[in-house]
Amino acid sequence: MEVITDIASLRARLQHENSIAFVPTMGNLHAGHLSLVEIAHKQADCVVVSVFINRLQFSPHEDFDRYPRTPLDDCRLLEEKGVDVVFMPDEKILYPVPQEFQLLLPYMADTLEGACRPGFFRGVATVVLKLFNIVQPHVAVFGEKDYQQLQIIRGMVAQLNLPMQIVAGKIVRAGNGLALSSRNSYLDADACRQAGELSRQLKQIRDSIISGEQNFPLLEQQAAEELSSHGWVVDYVAVRQQDTLLPATTSDSRLVILGAAWLGGVRLIDNFLITLPPSIPSPRP
Ligand code: PAF
Repeated sequence: MEVITDIASLRARLQHENSIAFVPTMGNLHAGHLSLVEIAHKQADCVVVSVFINRLQFSPHEDFDRYPRTPLDDCRLLEEKGVDVVFMPDEKILYPVPQEFQLLLPYMADTLEGACRPGFFRGVATVVLKLFNIVQPHVAVFGEKDYQQLQIIRGMVAQLNLPMQIVAGKIVRAGNGLALSSRNSYLDADACRQAGELSRQLKQIRDSIISGEQNFPLLEQQAAEELSSHGWVVDYVAVRQQDTLLPATTSDSRLVILGAAWLGGVRLIDNFLITLPPSIPSPRP
């Protein structure tokens, strides 16, 4: 495995590769990231992983400075997973001058995470587009854990005609249902035990919808109240259409239930996808 820190060396290393699968990360790798690497191996001959904590996607009051940085452990894990190249640039390589050219994103970037974290997706899309231009992968792999990010990247690739395919990896969960995330390392032992409650509430909504409940606002409200009663501060619990992330209606069959909430000062996000059988129109009287 080669660890490369500059763009010219990376391009030289990759220029004769037949097919490249790329997994962009911010490091502090866990089993969720490693499952994306496994998917990448099935997609192409050469697997490239980037490790870069992108300041552009953090607001000034967010956790950029304390975001966990574990480059040696990351390289060890990636080497064990048979990764070919790790791209680990520092900020001056990706942002040698202030990044004034940024992307203008659609409505999908202003709702849910975008409403809670203004500018977040502009920062994500901008760095991902830069990384795509640098690595020029045939396939890029993203986790469904950040479902809204995945949909925005899919839209960007489609609408900007980027010659690559986006492949999604399933959420990897701890035994109590908690979706794996680098930010879980901020949770103390007690919070870690309680953290499964977010996934339990979203799963409860999923099960209710599968059993025929169609009052989505009521389900959202009940889950948010339940979380609050357990000491969570809820940003949103929402039942949305999978493709557009618009509020779901009872005629939609492809739904996603998303939630974001704070537990003891740590913000967690999670989601569950459901595909319902198409509804049978009721016969005319
Ligand atoms: O999901 C992440 O880790 C980041 O948002 C990404 C895609 C690596 C861009 O910085």
